[in-house]
Amino acid sequence: MRDWPGKRVAGGINFLRGRGRRFERALEKLDRLTDFANSGDVDLVVFSGDFTAMGTRAEFATARAAIQPFVTSPAEFVCVAGNHDIYTRTVVREKRFETTFEGLLETDLPDSRVDGPWPTVRLLGDDVAVVALNSAKPNPIPWRSSGRIPSVQLEALGEILQRSDIEGRFVFVVTHYAPCLADGSPDTPTHGLENAEAFLRTCAGIERGAILCGHVHQTYRVRIPAIGPEIFCAGSATMHELEGFWMYDVDGGSIAARRGRWTGSGYEVETLEANPLPEGGAQE
Ligand SMILES: [Fe+2]
Repeated sequence: MRDWPGKRVAGGINFLRGRGRRFERALEKLDRLTDFANSGDVDLVVFSGDFTAMGTRAEFATARAAIQPFVTSPAEFVCVAGNHDIYTRTVVREKRFETTFEGLLETDLPDSRVDGPWPTVRLLGDDVAVVALNSAKPNPIPWRSSGRIPSVQLEALGEILQRSDIEGRFVFVVTHYAPCLADGSPDTPTHGLENAEAFLRTCAGIERGAILCGHVHQTYRVRIPAIGPEIFCAGSATMHELEGFWMYDVDGGSIAARRGRWTGSGYEVETLEANPLPEGGAQE
């Protein structure tokens, strides 16, 4: 209840004023997304956070039930928390995210964990690695929704990227907050990743990899000069009129990314011809 006078009242008003309606068909849309996970062609599903609006127990229970079809699908499942999931200090204290997603935050490199379950690392086959970092934190001030990757996680990421069993792989680095907007510029101090520069510096040397994020309600890809991996923001998979996601095909050291869209009754993925290679990009 101590959280209610601040963040949750503001979030609740925001929700009732329209945000909630934009997610009315979220469960139906998630159900359609499971078609991809069950297709047999998808090895890995990545959720980049914001499963809930205000991190309540009821929302977490609904979200966990909603993602169960992905968990039981043949695809591996990796997720990170969003700021809406780590909404208040109470949510953190009660470890609601970690408890709800227990069993889904497993890592193949337990010795590299430095901050609860983070970084979470998955080694897929012989050629892909996923490193998931937490950038979400409570923002008690109602008008703030910024994030930060704790420096211990960034240091751990740097060490992971140097490992001989990681170096030869295509590396997906996943976190909720976008390190930049669609035009490559920084997000605002009240909404963005506070230490985006340090994060990008840590990732700069990745020769074969991609940074996957969410938070910004726009599906985009962007490359920043001197930063090795391209950045892909999923946007929101289920938010009305902004639905989007990315489908990646990794082949050795290269990646082909196609944008997914909601058609009104299902999702479709663009052909590579409709999503041409960026200038100097790593697509093949
Ligand atoms: Fe977010």
